[in-house]
Amino acid sequence: MTEETLSNLLREDRRFEPPAEIAESANLKADAYERAAADREGFWAEQAERLDWSQKWERVLDWDDPPFAKWFVGGTLNASYNCVDRHVEAGRGDKVALHWVGEPVEDRRDITYAQLKDDVSRAANALTELGVQTGDRVAIYLPMIPEAVVAMLACARIGAPHTVVFGGFSADALASRLVDCEAKVVITSDGGYRRGSASALKPAVDEARAKTAEQGHTVEKVLVVRRTGQDVTWDDAVDVWWHDVVDSASADHTPQAFDSEHPLYVMYTSGTTGKPKGILHTTGGYLTGASYTHWAVFDLKADTDVYWCSADIGWVTGHSYMVYGPLANGATQVMYEGTPDSPERGRWWKIIQDYGVTIFYTAPTAIRSFMKQGREIPDKFDMSSLRILGSVGEPINPEAYVWYRHVIGGDRTPVVDTWWQTETGSIMISPLPGVTHGKPGSAMTAIPGVSAEVVNEEGNAVPNGSGGYLVLTEPWPAMLRTIWGDDDRFRDTYWSRFRSQGFYFAGDGAKKDEDGDIWVLGRVDDVMNVSGHRLSTTEIESALVSHPKVAEAAVVGAKDEDTGQAVCAFVILRDEAGDGGDDIVAELRQHVRKEIGPIATPRQIMIVPELPKTRSGKIMRRLLRDVAEHREVGDVTTLADSTVMDLIKDKESAGKGED
Ligand code: PRX
Repeated sequence: MTEETLSNLLREDRRFEPPAEIAESANLKADAYERAAADREGFWAEQAERLDWSQKWERVLDWDDPPFAKWFVGGTLNASYNCVDRHVEAGRGDKVALHWVGEPVEDRRDITYAQLKDDVSRAANALTELGVQTGDRVAIYLPMIPEAVVAMLACARIGAPHTVVFGGFSADALASRLVDCEAKVVITSDGGYRRGSASALKPAVDEARAKTAEQGHTVEKVLVVRRTGQDVTWDDAVDVWWHDVVDSASADHTPQAFDSEHPLYVMYTSGTTGKPKGILHTTGGYLTGASYTHWAVFDLKADTDVYWCSADIGWVTGHSYMVYGPLANGATQVMYEGTPDSPERGRWWKIIQDYGVTIFYTAPTAIRSFMKQGREIPDKFDMSSLRILGSVGEPINPEAYVWYRHVIGGDRTPVVDTWWQTETGSIMISPLPGVTHGKPGSAMTAIPGVSAEVVNEEGNAVPNGSGGYLVLTEPWPAMLRTIWGDDDRFRDTYWSRFRSQGFYFAGDGAKKDEDGDIWVLGRVDDVMNVSGHRLSTTEIESALVSHPKVAEAAVVGAKDEDTGQAVCAFVILRDEAGDGGDDIVAELRQHVRKEIGPIATPRQIMIVPELPKTRSGKIMRRLLRDVAEHREVGDVTTLADSTVMDLIKDKESAGKGED
């Protein structure tokens, strides 16, 4: 972000007070900040009491061997019991847990907590029957159908950590995750509905399984949900239909209590290298964090609210704020399978109207795309039920915030701009809807129990009005425990930058305004944020270089009106490839789609003769970003060959190789 945008942000003087009725009955009031600061561990222990423990912990936090934390040491619990059974036992079995809405308009299912308990129990019994034992990893590659939630909770119930892989990822991306966490079983479906048609999933699993076999890893079983009725290739030795083994399984299953630190799931996310990181979350601390923040930040009133988070279960938001947080809290929520514009552009608003949604949580990229379509579309629907709106995934532009509040929220609803990460497991920085005077574009302050700071290179807090690196200064219950199988990378990635202070470095830059409120500015490392999805520049570069015509590639994230950032690639072809042929750009884009998935497809590929490098050979992405964002190219004096940028700019102005 440039200095100019920064000062624009800081000139933002619109303020939105909490509505009186929300302030009065808020779950968390202003005093919580002081209480938590006075006794952080005591405050978190109080939040952990939200859960049902089979055995209570002996110690809240073990931070004797940082950065390896243990929370609620000695406590035991079952996450699935906490998300399902206990609500049924408390007499709320008839309450709807999920209003599931398929993309085809006639597809709807309401699932009560009692039904969910039976479904999860059946799936847990079926997984055990298939040979899954406590500690085994199960991969889930499913569309947004109820079975995805059931599968996650069934894994949690038997203590088998799940790794959910976003259905938009390619067979290659799936295979690398299966190998990394040595998944024994994959749960998938024939396909799902997106953009008005059935799109297949099972073929990617077949392909991924073949690739894992080449790398010496065997996936033993593939459990397949029938969703679309598409033809599937079948391997009798491995493939099993969900309806054959789950529907016939017993609905009785006694959940076993696991240690608070038992692994709950591994979620892969992009880092600064080509290899995605398996972020490990464990049971007691994670569930405490997800449940507390969902209750506090969205001010959930479980008896009356209808909550909807539009995130896919393939991302951490789907884990914490569609599965574990809301279900631990006994919420009634909407789950939607498809895209916002199918079969019509107002589909989301119709769902809000039909179900009387009161709390809605989505991403800035979606909001911007609705802004572009115009307010006539949402204006056709009655969304007066809404009382709180949330945003996550990237900085929300003040204009998008105000539009969201005004057009979707009828100017009544606080907007909670929630900052967090796959690694943090739960929301860290956010307004509280009953307390905070919201500023459009600011995530405001760390929530009670969390300590965030903006620091300079030396790790000292910057004064108000200045920018720096965003850090978390104290451990928190839902924090990642490590990177799956790679403790060294865990330490290096997050804890080495400010080692002497013991701070967790999030990878984001931020600014504190004159009041000390935090404005998150985005990544300061080689990680891009495209439509709220994290992509690593290296990962895409590696994909490009794996194409036989490519010699070298450099990828940068350039500002994009719709997606926040877009992928821009600069590619040097091999000599033998000549000019690559007329379709070279399309060919390379297709190649990245296949290697990683459609979200990683470069918006722009430029075929260039050279890349700007320092004398030590480091690519100067900053200069490429200048080109990609059509800016005057900055200082080139540290380049090994300062004429390189002229060659690239010539290419750009000739418009050659662009798509
Ligand atoms: O750069 C920040 C941005 O998204 C990154 C985390 O991405 P991921 O692990 O995929 O999790 C996304 C959903 C939690 C952060 O490092 N980010 C997330 N929320 C915000 C944000 N940037 C600014 N404001 C936010 N509210």
